[in-house]
Amino acid sequence: MNRFDYHFPVRVHFGQGCFEETLQQELTRYGNRVMLAYGGGSIRRTGLYDRLVTILHGAGKTVTDFGGIMPNPTLKKVQEGQQLAREIKADLILAVGGGSVSDCCKIVATGDTPIPLGVVVTASGTGSEQNNGAVITDEENKVKGAMWGVFADFAILDPDLTKTVPMKQVISGAFDTLSHCMETYFGRPDEVTLSDEINEAVQRNTIRNLRRIAQDSDDELARSELMWASAMGENGILKLGKVTDFQCHMIEHQLGAYTDCNHGQGLAVLHPTFYRHIYHSAEKKFDRWAQEVWLVQHAQQAIDALEDLINEVGLPTTLADMGITLADDTIKAIAASTVITPGCCKRLTPDEIEQILRECS
Ligand code: NZQ
Ligand code: ZN
Repeated sequence: MNRFDYHFPVRVHFGQGCFEETLQQELTRYGNRVMLAYGGGSIRRTGLYDRLVTILHGAGKTVTDFGGIMPNPTLKKVQEGQQLAREIKADLILAVGGGSVSDCCKIVATGDTPIPLGVVVTASGTGSEQNNGAVITDEENKVKGAMWGVFADFAILDPDLTKTVPMKQVISGAFDTLSHCMETYFGRPDEVTLSDEINEAVQRNTIRNLRRIAQDSDDELARSELMWASAMGENGILKLGKVTDFQCHMIEHQLGAYTDCNHGQGLAVLHPTFYRHIYHSAEKKFDRWAQEVWLVQHAQQAIDALEDLINEVGLPTTLADMGITLADDTIKAIAASTVITPGCCKRLTPDEIEQILRECS
């Protein structure tokens, strides 16, 4: 295991129905000017917006809206938020949404004097509220890439708030969680560590609950478990002592930069093909993964099982399923602009990434 330093600064409040009480408690810590950040409108449709404003006014806060944060948030949107936060001299940014709102606000809150940030998670999967990384799309330069911002001061994870998320997004979010675990597991070193053994448990749990929620969207235990698994995937615990892989994510991010596709769905299409390209370079680890996570003997069977799961829960298996047709020069551009990660067991070349994308078409 590699050496590490670990510090986790986020106060996490988890539990069904915990939202109002924990938010009220948290608000006592901050000044009066709150910038309320949210996405494209789901919080108004679900009535959450009104509940939030009532709580904020009840706590004596003035509220300024920063709405319209789109899935796959753009650099322009971040800049708009930064300007607004400065203008109103925000004492707290309250980000209410999924990974896109959280990511956008982590960068908005960054500055010479960082602004405190709280995240109310309404769609789980990314675990964005657990770390200080943010994935932002620079539309002009066609790059979807990681930026480093602030950690949230607090995060509220109330599974009840996710009940209105469209099922497609619930499934895609859960697959994203599984991907984060796998991409950490297959990083370096490839010897099995405590982090990997905890990781295997989180993967088994995510797979089981992904199946359960796909069968029954009213399964509250599955919904709660997936929300906590999402947090576990990105709160750093599984990454201790490891250099993560995240090569599949890098390909998906560039696919996203060119197509604005859904993140979890893009990963579902890419993962099996990507693993068929790399497993020979870490066959022992892939065999262990087969036995501990999928309860089969060999790597190839495990990759088949992963593909079966993707089919079973109704995720797309080809780019065509997602409505994406890539022109030849776009495939080349995506491959050429994909970051090659140091943690992957095989160093991919742009040619091989091109090949993977063609096989996924
Ligand atoms: O925008 P609104 O209207 O709110 O609708 C959203 C959005 O359309 C909807 N939604 C969220 N909560 C809802 C709801 N609809 C009904 N009821 C609710 N309670 O869900 C849609 C998707 O939301 P989004 O935040 O885009 O999804 P997700 O959480 O999957 O986030 C995706 C973004 O996170 C990045 C991805 O690349 C992508 O840009 N990631 C961030 C990571 C990180 N910071 O650690 C790690 C990930 O690997 C990922 O790359
Ligand atoms: Zn992801």
